[in-house]
Amino acid sequence: MIRLATVQFQPVYRDVDANTAFIVNAIANTDADVIIFPELSTCGYFFVSRDEVGGVAESVDGPHITAITNAAHAANRVVVCGFAERDGDNLYNSAVIAGPGINTRVYRKTHLFYKETLCFDEGNTGFFVVHLPHLDCNLGVMICYDWRFPESARTLALQGADLIACPSNLVTHIWRMAMPVRAFENKVYLAVANRYGTETNTGEDVSFNGQSAIYSFNGEVLTSANAEETVTLISEIDPSATRNKQFNSINDIFKDRRPESY
Ligand code: ACM
Repeated sequence: MIRLATVQFQPVYRDVDANTAFIVNAIANTDADVIIFPELSTCGYFFVSRDEVGGVAESVDGPHITAITNAAHAANRVVVCGFAERDGDNLYNSAVIAGPGINTRVYRKTHLFYKETLCFDEGNTGFFVVHLPHLDCNLGVMICYDWRFPESARTLALQGADLIACPSNLVTHIWRMAMPVRAFENKVYLAVANRYGTETNTGEDVSFNGQSAIYSFNGEVLTSANAEETVTLISEIDPSATRNKQFNSINDIFKDRRPESY
């Protein structure tokens, strides 16, 4: 069994120092093997231009992301944390994956939502799975609106993910119907780390609806948060329990697929 945590909070808009301090403190004080933070945790969400994102973005070896990855190693915890990434002239809505026994990796959001399209480049990493050797856990990451595309979770599950981490800044409510289905249809654990609060830019408000949750591989809610609270959710999960996709003596949800018909 491993201890899985999601941290729900309200990042301070554009204050990368304050958000990084919060994240580093949460890593040190959360008794879990894997800790997931929301999308764009270091800087907040509602940007409407590349110039604005350029003011808060940094490379994966920049000072704030280095502080977060160092905290993960110091606490012996695997961390998944959303940030605005700069790579040369490109800007990505990314998540860093760092901690003991793995090389630091970055997933860049594949499907951009709403005004993210004005600010970020489309992710070019594709979906990939990271094996966490000391936990015997295969971890995949999708970011927020990626959930809308069943291909995201399915691609990760076909690559062997036991657990999908979903750093999020969710603004609708329909995801609460779909996320447990993503878990169930792929027989994987799914952890949604959402944020709460409202941000305003150019006279427009965007509100985020909290309710972070960890779903079991049968779609059951293991733990969930309220809409407006700073809270850390923790569940014990058994990654190996996801690997047998057979559900009766004949049927197997992966072996029964008919890709040639799709
Ligand atoms: C979203 O992708 N932040 C809704």
